[in-house]
Amino acid sequence: MIEKKPGVQILGTGAYFPSKVLTNSDLEKIVNTSDEWITSRTGIETRRISDSDIPTSELAFRASIEALNTAKLTTKQLDLILVATITPDMLFPSTACLLQRRLGAKGIPSFDLAAACSGFIYGISIARSFIQSGLYKTILLVGAEELSKITDWTDRTTCVLFGDGAGAMVLTASSYKENSILSTFLGADGDYSNLLYVPAGGTLHPTTNETVVKKMHTIKMEGKQVFKMAVLKMVYAAKKAIELSGLQIKDIKLFIPHQANIRIIKAVAEKLGISMQQVFINIYKTGNISSATTITALDEAIKTGKIKKGDIVELISFGSGFTWGATVIQL
Ligand code: COA
Repeated sequence: MIEKKPGVQILGTGAYFPSKVLTNSDLEKIVNTSDEWITSRTGIETRRISDSDIPTSELAFRASIEALNTAKLTTKQLDLILVATITPDMLFPSTACLLQRRLGAKGIPSFDLAAACSGFIYGISIARSFIQSGLYKTILLVGAEELSKITDWTDRTTCVLFGDGAGAMVLTASSYKENSILSTFLGADGDYSNLLYVPAGGTLHPTTNETVVKKMHTIKMEGKQVFKMAVLKMVYAAKKAIELSGLQIKDIKLFIPHQANIRIIKAVAEKLGISMQQVFINIYKTGNISSATTITALDEAIKTGKIKKGDIVELISFGSGFTWGATVIQL
């Protein structure tokens, strides 16, 4: 039996991408790669890149304003700000506090959460719990990243994959009838922490000349192993969240998986027994933007009319940690 807790309604979403486009042919001039290799192995054709003087909080701000406008709310009506990011403006203060200042939402609690590419799904679960507990009524949840700034632009095995962007969602307490979040499921396994990581800049390897020279401040990844686990865990999380919602795969109108690699997405779809027509894809123009992928894809699916009020959608993610998660929502 599904427990009838207080409802959590999604009031609005927003997204923002920097205007600068980096194409596969641009990358051909930087590393030994080809448009054909990148497109066929990843599905990525272009990605957006921030200017050097624009921090993650700025992308977060632009996406937040759009989400607040869609929700028809002002910043004064927010009770909490949560930012999922692995590319914060700085180690501290949190990007959420910098966003709070930018929004003029003085006083309300604000913090970052780091669950890598699963960050937005983790955020939905946290926001939902806060709202259902009665502690906060209205929450701004943001996924914002500038992966271009932690990318090794001499490493062809990673630099072709990532991009920059931000997405935001406003959630509020509602009646059970208007509830949007039907289920959330989260998981993690720290045994795999050495397969996708940035080695230096924290307390394990504080910044030194050596860490800079050895490029230890950029993304390191064992692509093949990440690929296999991503498929396994996204399928697992997708099934668990559907089970927790009390629904079945056939009830889901649109699946929005983490956009890391088109081949991962196709393998997940195949294992779930769904057609690619039911799966939202925008990786070809965004690349992997970590915590911002599922929310920017959801925002695009709503704004382009691919999904409408009442439709049931599942967001599924996987990332460094490893972390994974899924959520079933009803618009
Ligand atoms: N351009 C051209 N060739 C490239 C290349 C590039 N950008 N990157 C790697 N190659 C080469 C490799 O050097 C290798 O050459 P070799 O056979 O001579 O050694 C060959 O292509 C195959 O490399 P491989 O690593 O086996 O490719 P792959 O099919 O596993 O694809 C990834 C590589 C990174 C695209 C893929 O493993 C992947 O997407 N992994 C998951 C990444 C991910 O999702 N990360 C984020 C998770 S949140």
